Amino acid sequence: MDDRIQQIHESVKDYYSRLTTQKDGELASAACSCASGSIPDPVRKIVSELPEEILTRYYGCGSPIPDKIEGCTVLDLGCGTGRDVYVVSKLVGENGRVIGVDMNDDQLAVAEKYKDEMARKWGFSNVEFRKGFIEDLASAGIGDASVDVVISNCVINLSPDKESVFSEIRRVLKDGGILYFSDIFADRKVPEEISTHPLLLGECLGGSMSHDEFREIMKRQGWRLYAVVSSHDSPINNEEIEKLVGDIRYTSETIRAVKSPGRGAHGAPSGQPARPIAVPYPQQSCCSSGSGSCNCC
Ligand SMILES: C[S@@+](CC[C@H](N)C(=O)[O-])C[C@H]1O[C@@H](n2cnc3c(N)ncnc32)[C@H](O)[C@@H]1O
Repeated sequence: MDDRIQQIHESVKDYYSRLTTQKDGELASAACSCASGSIPDPVRKIVSELPEEILTRYYGCGSPIPDKIEGCTVLDLGCGTGRDVYVVSKLVGENGRVIGVDMNDDQLAVAEKYKDEMARKWGFSNVEFRKGFIEDLASAGIGDASVDVVISNCVINLSPDKESVFSEIRRVLKDGGILYFSDIFADRKVPEEISTHPLLLGECLGGSMSHDEFREIMKRQGWRLYAVVSSHDSPINNEEIEKLVGDIRYTSETIRAVKSPGRGAHGAPSGQPARPIAVPYPQQSCCSSGSGSCNCC
């Protein structure tokens, strides 16, 4: 791992360890906080059954939880204290499975603490947490084409190597599998002094992608089907941080992408015959679903 990547990992790890262990555990800005109106009712209902500590240490910016996931294997990248993992645990049911990956011991310790309690509450045990980097899921033991759905909530912006994150997602998804993630996007390429600033990084602003940067990665890697499911402004509500980012505007977006069958990493034909779609999702043709804008195909 090169020095720049290591430095950013350490900076982000420190940031979230401090948040997790300090009393109120609150982020300094409002950017990385979920607009409650964007949470579907079934998810909201399950959230209300989760332990208080998990909810006060939740740092997501959207609701990247697709419907109709019963029986699926779901991987949550940067699961933090496990809020979305436990929601998905109930939704996939006892025949499904959820794996949360995070690099931060303090966050994972909170997530692990509630495993037995949540298994008793739901009536089954289908959750596993693993320590690892989202840029290297192989090291966390996530095999090729082993996952039906990858979710992630306000994490990819924190990665110093987004190309590897998306290529790992392609590797672990089954053909026809779904990537569903929420993240903060910037309205332009974020300049170096902002993208390396520890406070801005930790607040999910420094490392945000612009739409162009995101589209370039998707194109390079052969992700042909993706759509913005929802998008809303991310107000910062902190004068010091507003001064630092100047006139950059941020949005929180939830994006759904499909791993097209028969394409390998970086878009090269895989040579493998396309297997049937792994999950019985309703066929969502690009641009046809939801209310959001669309950057696809
Ligand atoms: C903003 S928090 C979101 C946590 C969780 N998804 C939630 O909604 O509460 C970001 C999380 O991503 C983790 N993270 C950031 N970069 C990571 C990386 N490169 N590999 C693994 N985990 C990472 C952090 O440790 C932290 O738990």
